[in-house]
Amino acid sequence: MDGNGRWANNRNKPRHSGHRAGVKSVRTSVETAAQRGVEFLTLFAFSSENWSRPKEEVSSLMNLFVEALRREVDELHRNNVRLKFVGALDELNTGLKNKIAQSEQRTANNTGLRLTVAIAFGGRWDIIQASKALARRVLDGSLQVEDIDDAEFAAGLQMSNMPDPDLLIRTGGEQRISNFMLWNLAYAELWFTDVLWPEFDEAVFDEALCFYAGKQRRFGHTGDQVETVGC
Ligand code: FPP
Repeated sequence: MDGNGRWANNRNKPRHSGHRAGVKSVRTSVETAAQRGVEFLTLFAFSSENWSRPKEEVSSLMNLFVEALRREVDELHRNNVRLKFVGALDELNTGLKNKIAQSEQRTANNTGLRLTVAIAFGGRWDIIQASKALARRVLDGSLQVEDIDDAEFAAGLQMSNMPDPDLLIRTGGEQRISNFMLWNLAYAELWFTDVLWPEFDEAVFDEALCFYAGKQRRFGHTGDQVETVGC
């Protein structure tokens, strides 16, 4: 969800107002995903590296997360959305941690869109914490080194109970992964747009879905072995 700061700068507003405007795009993207039958939507809200932003920006973002949860969870619940957070959640302040736990609990039995928010998340961090889990199992004798494979490794990642993403959407003009879900994105289609996150709307989301629908997903097979759906 890149481009909040530049959206605010372009309007001579403080960066924080860009993040606030970004909450509206979060709402739109959740609604559009649900309407289009997307089963899993994951939002990268705060990276491990974002902790090095100015203290005021970090704390206003943390407050914004609490406020957004306070305002939006009822509506998410009414719409059968199941909410989950991934990342180094123990690094967050107690107020936010509590709100996250409450929101997850409240929506835990919902059966609609699975909405995951990555906070204090980094792809390298995720790989390291999964490696530590494997190392512990080897040390306590419950896992043999020879038995480590893709599935054993992925089981320790934060997104272990979800399929790998089919499509990555990055707004804000940069064409890079920026330490997002490095393992899980191995076969994802990547779509980049110059649109800044506060301007991300239904039409832009549809453009991304259309790009995805036109892709032939080969996973190592030949073009003749797979079909392309089209938009
Ligand atoms: C990146 O844009 C955006 C963030 C670090 C924060 C994203 C947070 C929200 C959209 C708030 C709402 C989120 C939830 C889940 C309720 P940037 O600040 O790097 O923009 P820039 O590159 O233009 O400076």
